[in-house]
Amino acid sequence: MTREFLPAGTAGIIEAAPAASPAAIEADALVVFLAEGGTGSGAAATVDAATGGLLGRLASDGELAGRRYECVPLLAPPGLRVGQVLVVGLGRGEEVDAGVVYRAAATAARHLAGRPRSRVVFLPEPAWSTAWLEQAVAGGAVGMVGQDLYRAEPKRTRFGTTLWVGGDAAAVARGVRLGDGVNLARRLVNMSPDHIYPESFAEEAAAIAGRTGLEIEIWDEDRLRRERCEAILAVARGSSRPPRLVLLRYRGRPRASGDHPDLALVGKGVTFDSGGLSLKPSEAMMGMKMDMAGGASVLAAIATIAALQLPVDVAAGIGLVENMTGPAAYKLGDVITARSGTTIEIHNTDAEGRVVLADVLDVVRGLGPGRMIDLATLTGACMVALGHDTAGLMSNNQACCDALAAAARSVGEPVWQLPMDAEFGEQIKSDVADIKNVGDGRWAGAITAAKFLERFVGDTPWTHVDIAGPAFAEKPKPWTDGGGTGVMVRSLVELARAGG
Ligand code: BES
Ligand code: MN
Ligand code: ZN
Repeated sequence: MTREFLPAGTAGIIEAAPAASPAAIEADALVVFLAEGGTGSGAAATVDAATGGLLGRLASDGELAGRRYECVPLLAPPGLRVGQVLVVGLGRGEEVDAGVVYRAAATAARHLAGRPRSRVVFLPEPAWSTAWLEQAVAGGAVGMVGQDLYRAEPKRTRFGTTLWVGGDAAAVARGVRLGDGVNLARRLVNMSPDHIYPESFAEEAAAIAGRTGLEIEIWDEDRLRRERCEAILAVARGSSRPPRLVLLRYRGRPRASGDHPDLALVGKGVTFDSGGLSLKPSEAMMGMKMDMAGGASVLAAIATIAALQLPVDVAAGIGLVENMTGPAAYKLGDVITARSGTTIEIHNTDAEGRVVLADVLDVVRGLGPGRMIDLATLTGACMVALGHDTAGLMSNNQACCDALAAAARSVGEPVWQLPMDAEFGEQIKSDVADIKNVGDGRWAGAITAAKFLERFVGDTPWTHVDIAGPAFAEKPKPWTDGGGTGVMVRSLVELARAGG
């Protein structure tokens, strides 16, 4: 059993259908996956047979190579009752993993969603595990959604019905929930920062909590003041939009086996990052609506975990502020006492994410979670180190880091661990306070940011995920129109499935 968390009727129908021979399938399009040199086996071979050897002939002519994410439409194919067969390449067979399958399905869906289609049928490879099928279904759901929130004429239209023929029905249903989760995070990131600000983000969270049965608490300014969340309040002071802290809880197992969450998720929710008084130049400020992507992925992940009714206890905290330059803005040289009592000297108001997270980590740590994972678009330095596609992992506990890395690997999301030796902590020493909010110069900027966060997690096994690179795709790729990516939603769900 799974529970819906999108408003009814917004997603189109996506479901499994009984195995059928290609000749019996009626659809606008039939999607077939093809590895290099693979027309002789699997689903491609059955389509080849049904079309009198069409795929094989095209392959020997070099027209169908199965190159990764290449789409080849075969219009009006003989012997079939479909408008087209869309062959999507998987690349070299031995290099296919869950991420390739996710992106290949998304590529096919994106290609076909360029115009309205009432019925699209996917033929998953019979050899795929249910785990891979799930990722493919999620990719199919994600690929047909673009960045069309504010366009009169959308570039992508969701299919009326998507059928995964011969796919395990429960795995397909799980894949749909995963796709919903990724699309939720993408939508929040893609929204105009004039529409998604701390209060409206909290309202979105409340609506999603209502639909998925999550417990929710929203701390407003008064509550934040009573809870001594001076770090969150300081960053928020430059904005006319008041801050919020959203706390969510999903109890998927009986309380009797312990009231501490197995897993706690923390998200950076800076709904717009101007840099504050350490103002960003225009080119760097453009795109800073995405600075709440950690919060969006955390909300989407816990909602998906609830929708899948996984047997774990998960908590989440999302720190929501707008970093602006208003007359009350926090200043360079300000010393802030964070909720934990640690004092922070502000050297740069653009290093705001870590300041916000200081309080969120402290609140969530107080729940006594088994593990804590934070997601944040924290540093440009992490993009210098790892580029646009790979998230940086920094941790105080190797087992915690390994568990997250294993989950990410099994769904095909690239992550890479960076070192956290004590020496890096020297850089955040302050002359006047316990710590300062930047390192010395820009060296190891991703790590000095993580060393700052580490000061607020106590002994809790914790992993910080810097998603500054992969949270947002500046340019389209075969599998996405670009914009928010919903990064780490699939990995976090996988981690929760492994028990947290
Ligand atoms: N939100 C930014 C980090 C960022 C940069 C995310 C580019 C995505 C793309 C963060 O708040 C920030 O401004 N970090 C500063 C830290 C510095 C002042 C120590 C940075 O990375 O330049
Ligand atoms: Mn910043
Ligand atoms: Zn930021």
